[in-house]
Amino acid sequence: MKYLVLLTVLALWAAPLAAQQAADAVAPEGSGAGAVVTSPAVAEAQAAKAAGKPVEAQDWMVSAANPLAAEAGARVLREGGTAADAMVAVQAVLGLVEPQSSGLGGGAFLLWQDGETGEIITLDGRETAPLAATPRLFQDEDGKPLQFYDAVVGGRSVGVPGTPALMKSAHERWGRADWAGLFDDAIRLAEDGFEVSPRLAGMVALDALRLSRFKVTREYFLSDNSLLEVGEVLRNPAYADTLRRLAEEGPAPFYTGEIARDIVAAVRGAEGNPGVMSEADLAIYRVKERAPVCVAYRVWEVCGMGPPSSGGLTVGQILGMLEPYDLAAMGPRDPRAWRLIGDASRLAFADRGRYMADADFVPVPVKGLIAKDYVAKRSELLRGDDALPEVAPGRPEFDHALHFADDRSIEFPSTSHISLTDRYGNVLSMTTTIENAFGSRLMVRGFLLNNELTDFSFRSHEEGVPVANRVAPGKRPRSSMAPTIVRRDGVPVMVVGSPGGSRIIGYVVKTIIAHLDWKMDVQQAVSLPNLVNRFGVFDLEAGTWAADMAGELEALGYEVAVRPLISGVQAISMGDALRGGADPRREGVALGE
Ligand code: GLY
Repeated sequence: MKYLVLLTVLALWAAPLAAQQAADAVAPEGSGAGAVVTSPAVAEAQAAKAAGKPVEAQDWMVSAANPLAAEAGARVLREGGTAADAMVAVQAVLGLVEPQSSGLGGGAFLLWQDGETGEIITLDGRETAPLAATPRLFQDEDGKPLQFYDAVVGGRSVGVPGTPALMKSAHERWGRADWAGLFDDAIRLAEDGFEVSPRLAGMVALDALRLSRFKVTREYFLSDNSLLEVGEVLRNPAYADTLRRLAEEGPAPFYTGEIARDIVAAVRGAEGNPGVMSEADLAIYRVKERAPVCVAYRVWEVCGMGPPSSGGLTVGQILGMLEPYDLAAMGPRDPRAWRLIGDASRLAFADRGRYMADADFVPVPVKGLIAKDYVAKRSELLRGDDALPEVAPGRPEFDHALHFADDRSIEFPSTSHISLTDRYGNVLSMTTTIENAFGSRLMVRGFLLNNELTDFSFRSHEEGVPVANRVAPGKRPRSSMAPTIVRRDGVPVMVVGSPGGSRIIGYVVKTIIAHLDWKMDVQQAVSLPNLVNRFGVFDLEAGTWAADMAGELEALGYEVAVRPLISGVQAISMGDALRGGADPRREGVALGE
């Protein structure tokens, strides 16, 4: 029967984009409240989420995309570990139970607010392009951009993973727990097996054709040519072995040892679409500490990740443009509020397409893009009553000639977010990814390799003008990941982030506005329907009141698209108590004590 289902899926697999949209839409009812219950605490958290109520706690909290991962983090925090310790445990389990979204073969951005100093530090564990990569990596012999999935599946799209180095770097800076012990839960689950969740089973079914392209991947996800069933126990001894190596030796084997050799062999040997990564690329990989991007919003300060992520700049620009407008008076069901949010987002996306990329390789006007005067000028464009007929990049203050062409790279909504706070007052916000669902579909030693390089622009130039986010050796592709910490007078009030490709930015902005302006508790803010506008079309979340707003938004001049918008927001608010929210569209939970 399972075999028959697989054949049907393969037969139906005709249009890649339609299939990806279907993957995006893996039924909320199959992945939301009550879907995965592994303990009484998780049952309570799932029930709270289903009832639209936050989980409350006093000392610590974790919000993550899978209950087994959240439980691993909770154990560390309960035993006195820091948020950085808990992140290592959560990430190790996510790579097993939610392998389609993040893992050792991917990259991540991390924000840390230090409980002692109050300082915000950001770490960039983004993947890098191999040194042999050229701006034409994703073009054919005639310079024509490749089809998206022709680029994604195989070795060409694989960037040098940053997640293992980021885990170690965070632990070295802020950890208290024994490094090796942080992998215990993940090793046990990988060895003894874990129950396949509805979301994982659904994603495998939707991606069966691509997963079947490479032997190792096929044998793990489609053993005996069968789809995974919800609740079936899946073991991953190769992953257990990799984790044991990391636990005992740190990331060295990953970057300079046997694991590095296997990664390079898989990338270069990928049949039909090999990549150019070498062992030297892994050996020289480094996590980078970056300056946070912080923007004032009313009485708050919203801090995020700077380039190579566009997350902090776009979230900051959107909120900055909205500041003069009284969103609180309008409320969440008022189309005027969504016109403002939607057009502020379109303006920010226009700047993103032109200016945002890895600032180590191209000049990026980071200060200019969030300068008060500049944002106020962009905000004036929102003064009318109707949708802006056209949106173009602005002219931020910039000490370089403005010689970049616009770019609108494709990004799909995989990825995962972890929000954490510990008993020492530290706060951690980390968005982590292997890019597309199941990344490059190449699997090495129990984990999937990313396809992050397809976050670069496939076009290197437009009419002779270079694109800022073009491929270059050693460069990090532009991201939309927006791990965020919101503070008031230096005191954290909210930690938030989401998966969702370039819609991440809209999901994070919505959650922040819902909590700060519309005074919703963090769960209500996360659950609020999604309305996102990046390039003109207003995406409205199907099956919610957002879809009922279509007529009113059309009357304002928008084209609208009613579609699934499967955010995966994990958020915690801090005040008289810690309150955790987890996105009802996915399987995550918040746990705290
Ligand atoms: N690959 C998703 C992102 O970095 O935005």
